[in-house]
Amino acid sequence: MLVSINFEDDQKTLQVEANQRLTKICDEHPSSILFGCRCVACGTCLIEVVSGMENLTPVMDEERILLDVLAPDNPNIRLACQCIVQGDIRIRVAD
Ligand code: FES
Repeated sequence: MLVSINFEDDQKTLQVEANQRLTKICDEHPSSILFGCRCVACGTCLIEVVSGMENLTPVMDEERILLDVLAPDNPNIRLACQCIVQGDIRIRVAD
């Protein structure tokens, strides 16, 4: 199944196979999203999910702990390095 990923900052939309890590997709299709540690330590990869939050794999404990520090008041924020894309999403780099 193909899914659609819209990168607002880059004004581009990709069609990719579902169930891939966002890190892998961004490695293959460079975007404005930056990755540092890729393991829930640095917070470099913070994104705002404009739509399609339900199409990302759920937040796990480690990610929740860092999100509670970095973006406690915004439920639309994720760490891109922890997301597997299961359906259409629209994302941008978090402020
Ligand atoms: S790249 Fe470091 S937390 Fe995602």
